[in-house]
Amino acid sequence: MRQLNLDLDEKSYPIYIGQDLLSNSELLTKHIAGKQVMIVTNTTVAPLYLDKVKALLEGYKISEVILPDGEQYKTLDTVNTIFSALLEVRFDRSCTLIALGGGVVGDMTGFAAASYQRGVNFIQIPTTLLSQVDSSVGGKTGVNHELGKNMIGAFYQPKCVVIDMDTLDTLDDRQYSAGMAEVIKYGLLGNIEFLEFLENNIDGLMARDKLLMIEAVYQSCLDKANIVAQDELEAGKRALLNLGHTFGHAIENILGYGVYLHGEAIAVGMLMAARLSQSEGFLSADDINRVRGLLENANLPSTIYGKITPSDFMKSMSVDKKVIDGNIRLVLLRKLGDAFICNNYQDILLDQVIGEFCLTT
Ligand code: NAD
Ligand code: GLY
Repeated sequence: MRQLNLDLDEKSYPIYIGQDLLSNSELLTKHIAGKQVMIVTNTTVAPLYLDKVKALLEGYKISEVILPDGEQYKTLDTVNTIFSALLEVRFDRSCTLIALGGGVVGDMTGFAAASYQRGVNFIQIPTTLLSQVDSSVGGKTGVNHELGKNMIGAFYQPKCVVIDMDTLDTLDDRQYSAGMAEVIKYGLLGNIEFLEFLENNIDGLMARDKLLMIEAVYQSCLDKANIVAQDELEAGKRALLNLGHTFGHAIENILGYGVYLHGEAIAVGMLMAARLSQSEGFLSADDINRVRGLLENANLPSTIYGKITPSDFMKSMSVDKKVIDGNIRLVLLRKLGDAFICNNYQDILLDQVIGEFCLTT
């Protein structure tokens, strides 16, 4: 098992990464203070892993809530069903919530934990690649609003993150690729050695070689933990983790949740950010080919399939959370492995990139 820590003073917590961790009761129980445990999962993950997790919690008062599966259920209404389940079994402030599932379950469980009785403990057991390398780490929690994705939420850190790579055995290839987009993001934004590791090992990673996967997840979590430790509340550096996200969220918002998986939209978004970086004179054509090649080798889209007009795209980008005083802040690449936040890109170049990608429909 590998372990790393996210250092946030009294809110610090360990991230455990390895195989067969869902057989290790102590990993979980040493982070549970009281006796009441609510496991939050969904209809897909429950039949696969719920009994396994329950078996780790002998002696606890265990309750469970099984949510419907899908990004469209990542809403305040669904979070309310978690509150109802907690209140029905009269769980008090000493309870612990366990998020067992992908990013949708994790984000909602974290948000419920942040607000139930003004805050109770929670633990992340992420079961998709995307949630293992991104959403379970760093304490962003929340839900979607019909006018924008992830618009309602809180920063709230878990007590630990337990990443059992064996849970990925049941994850389908498309979801696995979507998670690989976030893995590639870490290489692109701040770690050229990791980018090269991914380029050199992409075949093995796509064949799901467990040792390579553990290395990739460990490095991704380490990179994210380092950034979050410096800027928990996204006052500055953490925004680099949004590489590709302002573009990607626009794709998701316009086409509707589910047409593109989150990671797929981020893959296209990262390529758009790279293209704008090239137009601004930072990246070369070779760099763009490297980015496109890696995304394609990870079976990720590098273009928008679906009808989006440039003006709709621009409108959608401007409701993203990264907009401050009407100015869309974008994460661009000074070079591969070196991202920065850019406020002064040329609007005409942004329009050209959006036109280029929207024209491919
Ligand atoms: P998801 O939670 O919808 O999971 C994808 C699908 O895989 C679902 O159908 C799920 O039920 C299924 N699944 C989960 N684990 C499985 C397993 N082991 N075997 C088989 N099927 C399994 O999607 P996701 O990609 O994990 O997460 C996307 C969400 O995460 C989005 O809502 C996004 O906004 C959010 N997110 C949050 C952060 C953050 O920092 N909080 C970061 C990135 C993404
Ligand atoms: N997923 C981006 C962040 O956690 O900040």
